[in-house]
Amino acid sequence: MPTPPPPPRQPAAYRYLLVGVLGLLVGLIATVMVARAIQARQDPFPEALMHVMDRQVQLLQAAQAQNRCSLADSVPRTQTLRSLSNDVDLAFPGLKDSQAFQQHASALRATLNQALAAPPADCTAMAALVEKIQTDCRACHQDFR
Ligand code: HEC
Repeated sequence: MPTPPPPPRQPAAYRYLLVGVLGLLVGLIATVMVARAIQARQDPFPEALMHVMDRQVQLLQAAQAQNRCSLADSVPRTQTLRSLSNDVDLAFPGLKDSQAFQQHASALRATLNQALAAPPADCTAMAALVEKIQTDCRACHQDFR
């Protein structure tokens, strides 16, 4: 009875390929784990606050562009922005001791206070308000973003 032939040896190229693919996989998993860990350490609050403020300004601007300029259109957004603007210190603990940062935050709050005390009565006034708010946002971003 003839002995069965020995199993063919795998060519070296296959083994290299296997090791290469394994290496890639391990690398990929490690990268995802590290990225997750970094992400988990970052506080989402500052960017979230900024994005919510940004959306409120956009909505105000969109309403104005559609000629929706009643108090019901502008006051709630202005109130939301005013409340959110209280939290910039909380969101940026590393910046809150800067005098310039405080001035910018204060300027934005002043703009919003004025807008709540004398809400825009028509679309022209509302456009001016949006412009003024955006100027306050930009002033702080120029120095601190
Ligand atoms: C007192 C300072 C200050 C004011 C006022 C301010 N911001 Fe910011 N904003 C910052 C800082 C600081 C950053 C950078 C945040 C970061 O990258 O972690 C930022 C970042 C942003 C971002 C980008 C967020 C991201 O994903 O990186 C948006 C959008 C934004 N602000 C919108 C606004 C709007 C809209 C206003 C006005 C209603 C405003 N900000 C007013 C300080 C301010």
